[in-house]
Amino acid sequence: MSKKPTKDLGKWKSKIPKSDQIKGVPMPPIQKPVPKGKKIISLPEPPKALGKIDLKKAITARKSRRTFTEDSISQEDLSLLLWMTQGIRDPSNPNRIYRNVPSAGNRHALETYLAIFRADGIPKGIYRYLPIEHALVPVSKPAKLEQRISAACLGQKFIGEAAVTFIWSVLRYRMEWRYGPISIKILALDAGHVCQNLYLGCESIGCGTCAIAAYDQDAMDRLLGLDGEKEFTIYIAPVGRPKE
Ligand SMILES: Cc1cc2nc3c(=O)[nH]c(=O)nc-3n(C[C@H](O)[C@H](O)[C@H](O)COP(=O)(O)O)c2cc1C
Repeated sequence: MSKKPTKDLGKWKSKIPKSDQIKGVPMPPIQKPVPKGKKIISLPEPPKALGKIDLKKAITARKSRRTFTEDSISQEDLSLLLWMTQGIRDPSNPNRIYRNVPSAGNRHALETYLAIFRADGIPKGIYRYLPIEHALVPVSKPAKLEQRISAACLGQKFIGEAAVTFIWSVLRYRMEWRYGPISIKILALDAGHVCQNLYLGCESIGCGTCAIAAYDQDAMDRLLGLDGEKEFTIYIAPVGRPKE
């Protein structure tokens, strides 16, 4: 294997002649930095045993859940779901940090935001997950968060009735640095793996979720404070204890 993995694109090289990686531009950071002065909230370690049911049962039980009880989510459950969807598998080489989901070229261009409505010990608001620290950083506390997120999701009320709603954004340059103009297809594929792990993780701990792609792009980006160009919302998933 090449000692210079960032330049070793093999057959991709002829297909993406204009990518910044080929031009020798340094790799962008693998995680959005924490704004100065922001205190982060460390999460407990994900539980050693994965949930309470085996994988086959989780796959059999999986379905999209759209009605939630008023229960809050524990920090352990939140920790497990974040670890399953974007957690780090092998931090030993800072130039190649692998996560628990696959990503084309290990680019991992997604960031995870949480709209927390009811989580033990964490006040309501919008937070961002920091995979390296396995922690949350507060982003904002918008008024009427439940109503705003439901409205931004085209009136799908249950998205504001969850205990927590996962929102994935894309920092497109992290992918474009390597794959240039073909990145958009790859970004969408990456998001699918992440949400599927959330579905299975939820089933394993008695929670439920529903993939959401019907939302108003500008309204969601505004709610998260994203510019909609360099970083934009790509996928959403409310999580809670299912009523049914
Ligand atoms: C990419 C994608 C986008 C989706 N968007 C929505 C949505 O905006 N609202 C919704 O209620 N369900 C949404 N769903 C859930 C689908 O409706 C659901 O997966 C489908 O009806 C099959 O049901 P099942 O997940 O229970 O097997 C979405 C699913 C996917 C994969």
